[in-house]
Amino acid sequence: MDISYLGHSCFSITINGKILLFDPFITPNPLAKAIKLEKIQADYILISHGHYDHIADAINIAQQTNAKIISNHEICVWLEKQGLSQLIPMNIGGKIKLEFGSVKCVVAIHSSSLPDGTYGGNPMGFVIESPEGNFYYAGDTALTYDMKLIGEYRKIDFAFLPIGDNYTMSADNAIIASEFIDCDYIIGMHFNTFPPITIDTKAAQQRFEISGKKLLIMEIGESISLK
Ligand code: NI
Ligand code: MN
Repeated sequence: MDISYLGHSCFSITINGKILLFDPFITPNPLAKAIKLEKIQADYILISHGHYDHIADAINIAQQTNAKIISNHEICVWLEKQGLSQLIPMNIGGKIKLEFGSVKCVVAIHSSSLPDGTYGGNPMGFVIESPEGNFYYAGDTALTYDMKLIGEYRKIDFAFLPIGDNYTMSADNAIIASEFIDCDYIIGMHFNTFPPITIDTKAAQQRFEISGKKLLIMEIGESISLK
């Protein structure tokens, strides 16, 4: 499984030859200037909730790549009104099987409105299962006991957790979350993009290490392979 970090909470993940793009927020992100939107490829775009910092480039990338969008019902209805047609509306608790594996929508404790103020349904996280491994993409969320259900549901090989505090859980809460989901390999997201979520990533990594866990902080534009 190949993972590329495109800044904020946006990752491109290749599984079995299919490219999944999570929460595209690239052109408005000054930290992601080096990422060229027209070079982005995607078979599926997964959108955790309607906030601008998760959906900003979704329409452009969907039009350019012909990718299918996986999100909640309300966001899919809104995207249809913006002219998109390849939509997979889901909701929390639901699971779908696709060529690369499966996507299950899970609880996120947050809010969700679309850039024009339209109600954006409930925010979600995703659990992806595939022959190349299973992972959890939390979206924007507080720490919640519901995360224990994820750890009981499947073996999670690695997880994308928000660590920036203020709008989501903090890095310290992410350590507890990683215990709840029973996964020691965390990739940080939703940090340093804006002043309120600027954190000391080195200190956060040290606290993870003391707890016997790994917090990977990827550089924007960096790619890694995980199995
Ligand atoms: Ni948000
Ligand atoms: Mn956000």
